[in-house]
Amino acid sequence: ILPILLIIITSYLVGSIPTAYLLAKTRNINIFEVGSGNMGGTNVARALGTQWGVVTALLDMCKGIAAIVLARMVLPDEQWGATTISAIAVIVGHNWSLFATLFYHLAVKGKRLTLRGGKGAATAFGTMLMIAQPQIIVGMLAIGGVLIAITRYVSLGVLAAFALSIVWVYALATQDQLPVEYAPYAIILAMLLILRFRENIQRLARGQERRLGERV
Ligand code: G3P
Repeated sequence: ILPILLIIITSYLVGSIPTAYLLAKTRNINIFEVGSGNMGGTNVARALGTQWGVVTALLDMCKGIAAIVLARMVLPDEQWGATTISAIAVIVGHNWSLFATLFYHLAVKGKRLTLRGGKGAATAFGTMLMIAQPQIIVGMLAIGGVLIAITRYVSLGVLAAFALSIVWVYALATQDQLPVEYAPYAIILAMLLILRFRENIQRLARGQERRLGERV
């Protein structure tokens, strides 16, 4: 039980590192108060420019990879279980970040306590890099890239890419072609994404989602 707790806490803290908040802060921008208010690469792209959005997404992706690498070192004999627990905890850490919540409430005093964070797409992509076969990753990049290029809706591309990979990973895990531990991960990831992207989904349905390239 101790190694599992260690994995959960470490992964949560790695996920909590508020990349988008810190990068925007270097330009004196509060990421929670611009664009969508989301602590993620897409919103950094709006506020600071595309290249900084890409840097944010890459760093957030590295959090997903790093957490799993650490978890596998803690439980080398239970690689798949360690990976699953770590992958969930690192995304939860990003979405409901301890550090972002602290920074936010220290900066704006007197607000009702709300947990701050991002939506977990880049971090979840990092976990997928550790879990899924190369063809799944290529499929994600292809469908996401094409949809974003055509529609300029980042959220639509991200959701489609994850829908593909989640179904694919679930199917392989339940057919013994990937570790069976990845099947529950696929389901939990789907729930986390729907929870965090529900406003984007509503805006997409109304045709009111922000398009890539639209400044704040
Ligand atoms: O990865 C998050 C992105 O797809 C949506 O972000 O800022 O448009 O809500 P945002």
